[in-house]
Amino acid sequence: MFRRLAFALCLAGARAEAQQRPCDPPAPLGPSRDLYCIELVPAPGIRGASGTVELGHVAGPFTVAVTPEGFPRHRLILSAAGLPSPGTLGRFRTFVAWAAPPSMHPMRRLGTVHEGRNDLGVVDLEKFVVLVTAETGPQVREPSDRLVLRGQSPSTRLFPPDLLQFSIGRMGTTPSGGHEHHGAPQGEGDSLRWTTVPMPPGLTMLPAEMALRPEVQPFLPSGDAPAARPRELVRLQDGDTLRLEAGLVTRTLKGRSYTMFAFNGQYPGPLIEATRGSEVTVVFTNRLPHPTTVHWHGIRLDHRNDGIPGLSQPPVPPGGQFTYRLRFPDAGIYWYHPHVREDIQQELGLYGNLVIRPEAGESYGPVHREQVLMLDDILIGDDGMVPLGLESPTHALMGRFGNTMLVNGEPGYRLAVQRGEVVRFYLTNASNTRTFNLSLPGAMMKLVGSDVGPYAREEWTESVVIAPAERYVVHVRFDRSGPVHLLNRVRGLDHLYGRFFAETDTLGTVQVSAGSVAKPLRGFDLVRVDSAAAADMEAFRRRAAAAPEQALVLTLETRDLPRVTQRLMQLDSIYFSPMEWSGTMPMMNWAATGRQVRWILRDPATGKENMDVQWNFRRGEPVRIRLVNERQSFHAMQHPIHLHGQRFLVLAVNGVPTDRFVWKDTVLLPAGSAVDILLDPSNPGRWMLHCHIAEHLSAGMMMGFAVE
Ligand code: C2O
Ligand code: CU
Repeated sequence: MFRRLAFALCLAGARAEAQQRPCDPPAPLGPSRDLYCIELVPAPGIRGASGTVELGHVAGPFTVAVTPEGFPRHRLILSAAGLPSPGTLGRFRTFVAWAAPPSMHPMRRLGTVHEGRNDLGVVDLEKFVVLVTAETGPQVREPSDRLVLRGQSPSTRLFPPDLLQFSIGRMGTTPSGGHEHHGAPQGEGDSLRWTTVPMPPGLTMLPAEMALRPEVQPFLPSGDAPAARPRELVRLQDGDTLRLEAGLVTRTLKGRSYTMFAFNGQYPGPLIEATRGSEVTVVFTNRLPHPTTVHWHGIRLDHRNDGIPGLSQPPVPPGGQFTYRLRFPDAGIYWYHPHVREDIQQELGLYGNLVIRPEAGESYGPVHREQVLMLDDILIGDDGMVPLGLESPTHALMGRFGNTMLVNGEPGYRLAVQRGEVVRFYLTNASNTRTFNLSLPGAMMKLVGSDVGPYAREEWTESVVIAPAERYVVHVRFDRSGPVHLLNRVRGLDHLYGRFFAETDTLGTVQVSAGSVAKPLRGFDLVRVDSAAAADMEAFRRRAAAAPEQALVLTLETRDLPRVTQRLMQLDSIYFSPMEWSGTMPMMNWAATGRQVRWILRDPATGKENMDVQWNFRRGEPVRIRLVNERQSFHAMQHPIHLHGQRFLVLAVNGVPTDRFVWKDTVLLPAGSAVDILLDPSNPGRWMLHCHIAEHLSAGMMMGFAVE
């Protein structure tokens, strides 16, 4: 009680109101108004009328709603005030709202509009205009000429700007102002040089951008190493010991050989299977040229085994050893990875999955078989793999987007199934920064679980939005013979020309045979409710405070950026897309290092930032936390926020309550969004909260919290 009061008081300065919506009067800890709210402008002769259209979050299993093709989905909520009586404008009886692309075609009828709040349903338009017209009846097919209110989506601020051309024209090809760095720095004792990064097809870069280079030394491991082999399954019983070794391997990607990192020589690392409630020992040896640790992502284990350098253990030096004792209180899909320079070590292949099974029975409905898929992307140019930043990460702005998609460490995933087979896919996103929008066109997907266990209620979905470190468990039945492709379909943003474009990556193919499976499974069409999980979450939610007790603002600071970057990105900030699905500013992003970019978690109650923030929670007392992704920053983009050692529920996105509950350890925050989570501080110890974009983490975006 006392504690609650204390928190309420310290938040008083910048109060996180319960359920703040984008069109509400602006509040410091609310969602961005200028990204998620359209101000309507009255047409000539319409006096006193005003309105707004909220680009509302569409409640669903993900914090960002998109179509399988990657188009944004928003629920449009139009609030109108001071509307005249339609009859005063002519022979009209009602008002109707419309939406259309900026070309005004095709015109989509949204619904009638009256004074107050109007739910106009969900649209999946990218750039669009909203019109309100006076009409003779509600069922008209075309808008009349009597316009009453109109507005434009925030994304229409993007256009091929003359301003940009002007500012660029004067910049020439000198890479930076004041911080010229001619010639590439040499790696120690080798001939590694920065050359360039591959360009996404169809994008134009300015000469001044092309001349940018990161001001750190390029690093890639080298030397002879044994050939890596695919992952093996390790079943651990209670009391078992696993020897795990991080070391160098040789891997072949797209016909070229690279020295990379691996656990036990495998890509991904060994797939560990264990039973809920069991305890195992992992004796870890570091055979890398760098210090490292192993973090067991999502597992509510004893904090001394969490693998956080400086917090739970000293980093394991090259040649050193550390013994981890793991206990598994929750069934589900987890993963392990290093917690030192993830931008290098994870990128080079250090990651593996753990599947924790219940003692008896099954967590989910029946399937014919399982596939455990780790998704990743890797950046390969004409000269091979693009080197990493030795002293500090490159790609410190948006994170390192790869251009070659990997499933379990290989491009071109293949699976052969029989018609009618039901497959459970465990999906883990191990990439540095990419959020995938995965679909299997032609096959229905049923979402059954996420980070820390099953959904309270299963749900059909056409695509799975999975951010770095998140996990989703889906059941898929393949009903038609022939190939079914595993696709990532998103909308890229061409920043220079202000246009969106389609991007499709094929991650793999499922070949469905003509012959049907011998034993078809009944029940796949049913959506199951896990009543135990549902009751558990429901009881927990009832204990939640109405308003957030803690808040965190996500932002960044930059210094000494090259002039071209500084200039272009300031202009670009006219609009931030909720999601940056792909790396469409490759040169500027690549050349920005962790020395120039500092990503920040700021506690608005104290003004403290990153590791100076130290929250204290009492075990067993739920804490409602407001996470705010600050729009007014140099570059707002999405961040997957992860809390160690605990689990939480997502309660609301931009003021829209969630209705699909599942225990999570990572939540994706779109740019400018405000997300409320309800933390279950169940596991005592000292822990971390951080962004799981590897470059953001390496650029400081982390803080501490304790549970006592
Ligand atoms: Cu996968 Cu600190 O996390
Ligand atoms: Cu981030």
